Amino acid sequence: MLASGRGSNLQALIAARDAGQLPVDFVLVGSDKAGAGALDLARDAGIPTFTLNPKDFPSRQAYDFELFRRLDASGADMLVLAGFMRIIDGEALKPWVGRMVNIHPSLLPKYRGLHTHRRALEAGDAEHGASVHYVTAELDGGPVIAQARIAIQPGDDEHALAQRLLAHEHQLLPAVLRLVAAQRLALLPPDGVALDGRALAAPLQLRNGELVD
Ligand code: GRF
Repeated sequence: MLASGRGSNLQALIAARDAGQLPVDFVLVGSDKAGAGALDLARDAGIPTFTLNPKDFPSRQAYDFELFRRLDASGADMLVLAGFMRIIDGEALKPWVGRMVNIHPSLLPKYRGLHTHRRALEAGDAEHGASVHYVTAELDGGPVIAQARIAIQPGDDEHALAQRLLAHEHQLLPAVLRLVAAQRLALLPPDGVALDGRALAAPLQLRNGELVD
């Protein structure tokens, strides 16, 4: 896993594993920020961690190649971006396409990039949500696997909306990784997702904690 921030999604994955609801091993957590809360949570859970400071590298690509070298060396089958706040070089990530997912707080393809909650509010949207997608060279642009949707309520501000959505993110990411662990999901080039060998017509939807087609 890679994370830059507080790590609540990472914590949700660890909790799901500890509850016997996610049959995976977490082999390594990396961050670009030495002070990331995610690193403390990982250490508390006994997961090896590392930090790579972008300032120690001459270019984004040099940084990303070293990042992926370390992740490769961990023996990980799958890489989860859980609040990793960096754009990743397209060449460096190529070997991981189909084996790397990201959670993004919007109903993609709406609102790629930052400030998604604010943008949904400013647009007057009736609903908002989060997406888990395969990572490709296009920022927040890879095939969407699954989404969680919530209604925007009168009086919602950016903070309230983000907080309410987060609880759904914490169900969405473990639910997708359960499918990954069961080897039921695959990226279908160029921009599709297959579940049990069949192309999805639309992203799976989280309903009552379960993903439905
Ligand atoms: C989440 O909102 C996630 O969707 C986005 O970054 C945030 C990370 O939060 N990519 P946390 O560090 O997992 O608490």
